[in-house]
Amino acid sequence: MKDKLCQIAYHVALQEGYFRIGLETGWEGFVPGQFGMLEVPRQDGVLLRRPFSFARQLGGTTEILYKVVGRGTEALSKVATGQSLRLLGPLGRGFEDVSGEGDRVGVAGGYGIAPFLQQAKRLKAQGRVLHLFYGARREHDLLYLQELSDIGVKLHVTTEDGSQGERGRVTELLAKVYAEQSPAVVWSCGPLGLLHAVQSWALPRGVPCELSVEETMGCGTGVCLGCVVKDPSGRYRRACIEGPVFAGECLKF
Ligand SMILES: Cc1cc2nc3c(=O)[nH]c(=O)nc-3n(C[C@H](O)[C@H](O)[C@H](O)COP(=O)(O)OP(=O)(O)OC[C@H]3O[C@@H](n4cnc5c(N)ncnc54)[C@H](O)[C@@H]3O)c2cc1C
Ligand code: FES
Repeated sequence: MKDKLCQIAYHVALQEGYFRIGLETGWEGFVPGQFGMLEVPRQDGVLLRRPFSFARQLGGTTEILYKVVGRGTEALSKVATGQSLRLLGPLGRGFEDVSGEGDRVGVAGGYGIAPFLQQAKRLKAQGRVLHLFYGARREHDLLYLQELSDIGVKLHVTTEDGSQGERGRVTELLAKVYAEQSPAVVWSCGPLGLLHAVQSWALPRGVPCELSVEETMGCGTGVCLGCVVKDPSGRYRRACIEGPVFAGECLKF
């Protein structure tokens, strides 16, 4: 883990308030699912940190995909290429590799797609394919479709309004495709409702699953207790250091 001042190599506006930002970290890589605490400027000049997953490593540049949802991300969207921001990372526990046969499945909702680009690259390097179930509200909320297809990802897309892919919820499509045979593992990242639905489908079937939670975070290093989640025994766990990726059986929704 390093706290580094990183120059912005590129900053690209995508559709509907989504952005891609490339930070010159000089890293060789990260474990998919890990995140960083990125400085975002505030209007009064104060710099705050916000947690973001890493989407991919391109040479020495680390890419983040983000959506403008509030003051911090709004201010971040105004930062120009060539400026520099501090980034603390890579932080937390990412997705674990599994051994054995069977499909490697990802389930992503909204900007929860971010860690799956690097995860797809990691599997490709092992000669494997990521079977990705990607759900969004509408077509405009689907990101990285071309990049995922270039890596050879087997994509199953759903939108709630039917504007692209199948209409409905992504977990319904997951259950339909794997009605007869179980995958080796399911990794998921997205809103809590999606993670809960994946957990409820996978665990009773004995399918190992890992879930990436997006709790609000203050420090990212285990100090402030701002990110705690409950496990089934009622114990609190810090998402920033024990997660953000947890084994499915370790989370109580
Ligand atoms: C481990 C981790 C990885 C993340 N990865 C990404 C990513 O790859 N791309 C991305 O766009 N965002 C990601 N997020 C969420 C991102 O951190 C928040 O959207 C951001 O902090 C909001 O800052 P803000 O100042 O713009 O919004 P605020 O003004 O702080 O909040 C605006 C609104 O967004 C909601 N909000 C704030 N934080 C979160 C959160 N963590 N989850 C859900 N809602 C939130 C608030 O409740 C409020 O309604 C991640 C969060 C975590 C913990
Ligand atoms: S964010 Fe501070 S303890 Fe996790």
